[in-house]
Amino acid sequence: MSRAPLEPDRATLEAWLAEVARAGFDALEALPHARAAGPLGAEATAIAQAVRLDFAEAPHDGGIASLVARVVAASEASLNTIGPGYLAYVPGGGIPSAALADLLACLLNRFTGLTAAAPALCRLEADVLTWLAGEFGLPAGAGGLLTSGGSLANLSALVAARHAVLGDDGRLSDARLYVSSQAHGSVEKAARIAGIPAANLCRVATDERLRMDPQALADAIARDRAAGLRPFAVVSSAGTTNTGVIDPLPAIATVAAAAGLWHHVDAAYGGAFVLCDEGRARLEGIARADSIAFDPHKGMFLPYGTGCLLVRDAARLRAAHQLDAPYLQDFDRLDRRDEVPSPTEHGPELSRDFRGLRLWLPLLLHGVGAFRAALSEKLALAQRLHAALADAAARGVPIELLAPPELSIVAWRARRRDGEDHGAWQARNAQWLARIVARGRVHLSSTVVPDGDGTPCFTMRACVLSFRTHAAHVDAAVEDIVQTAGT
Ligand SMILES: Cc1ncc(COP(=O)(O)O)c(C=O)c1O
Repeated sequence: MSRAPLEPDRATLEAWLAEVARAGFDALEALPHARAAGPLGAEATAIAQAVRLDFAEAPHDGGIASLVARVVAASEASLNTIGPGYLAYVPGGGIPSAALADLLACLLNRFTGLTAAAPALCRLEADVLTWLAGEFGLPAGAGGLLTSGGSLANLSALVAARHAVLGDDGRLSDARLYVSSQAHGSVEKAARIAGIPAANLCRVATDERLRMDPQALADAIARDRAAGLRPFAVVSSAGTTNTGVIDPLPAIATVAAAAGLWHHVDAAYGGAFVLCDEGRARLEGIARADSIAFDPHKGMFLPYGTGCLLVRDAARLRAAHQLDAPYLQDFDRLDRRDEVPSPTEHGPELSRDFRGLRLWLPLLLHGVGAFRAALSEKLALAQRLHAALADAAARGVPIELLAPPELSIVAWRARRRDGEDHGAWQARNAQWLARIVARGRVHLSSTVVPDGDGTPCFTMRACVLSFRTHAAHVDAAVEDIVQTAGT
């Protein structure tokens, strides 16, 4: 160990790295036999208490091996989000090559908030964004930002929409934003942070599959205009979190354009499917959006902390997020003519991690084709799951299956018994889900979806989106769902 305590020598660092890599790779190697979820609740809280340490003035006695062991023990008390049986919420998995990109980015630790401070690194990130914008079919002039996730992408989109359509006078009491009941909660939260009063969030009616009704949208905008309000944006969903349905994007784009509204598509879950032919066809119309949020930490299988906002006219995003400050004046002396825009001009952050490398390195290392193939596989696996459950239902297993997946989410519930009380039916569904996850092979989650009469119903869902999930895991899910169904 060198004498500077915060600057260990190379041999020490390499030994530490080997320890960290060993623990991480052991965890990956154990995945085929690991449970889909570790203990949660009180048992997990006890583990949290057991692994915690007090911070001391001197180095920890056990060194890195003991510290890493604690972290691994802590990680076991969790949903196993990197495992192949993780089909809950919206998986992704976290490809290991992105972790290596993060290590390199953190070791180099360059400042990539302002392009002038690291023009070539910012160019790598901008190249990723330009490539992504092209995959979504956005025109030249499009650009965007890698964010920490979909929530922040939705926030910057709403800030850009607010600025572009309503200006900057701060008068928002009459601003109207349109979403459906199926919009992700982060949209409502973004609106609140962006200063839009909660009462000004207009919930547009949906069709029988819970897709936004474009005619109802047009009618709501007209009604609000007539009442002297200021409609400024509509947020559609390209893959709802509940059931994975896609709002009618072309029709919504037409309504938004005719009414002069900003059309933001929340494709945090579904957007990555533009990378494969089948998915691109299903996302038809997404290229007409003013902005798109999508999460590489979902559909591009990256570790958590990687979201993306793409904006059709990047200048409008810049106009809403521009930063100028006297302490940045040194950069003005440079010749900056051919620079790509600074990330800080496109979003709220100044200092930030160098997220670009998390995409740049894996895309080049594995090739784009590997991502396209994995996404096609996920769509096919969701069809396989739906078909197997439909088959089970036809054989008499009491499953009420929702419509076939538009993307990679399959949803179902227990069929209601004749005369069964609603509460008892809901409880029976929750017990069924508990029996499935207790087996430990797959982890599923539930949500509430209204039935045809609008009654909220406990609904189970499986989201196939981990790059580690393959046919055998889906077949295991089917087995566990069917065998625990009861009568
Ligand atoms: C449709 C949709 N939008 C937004 C989000 C929020 O994304 P994040 O968790 O990355 O902030 C999610 C998360 O699951 C989502 O499914």
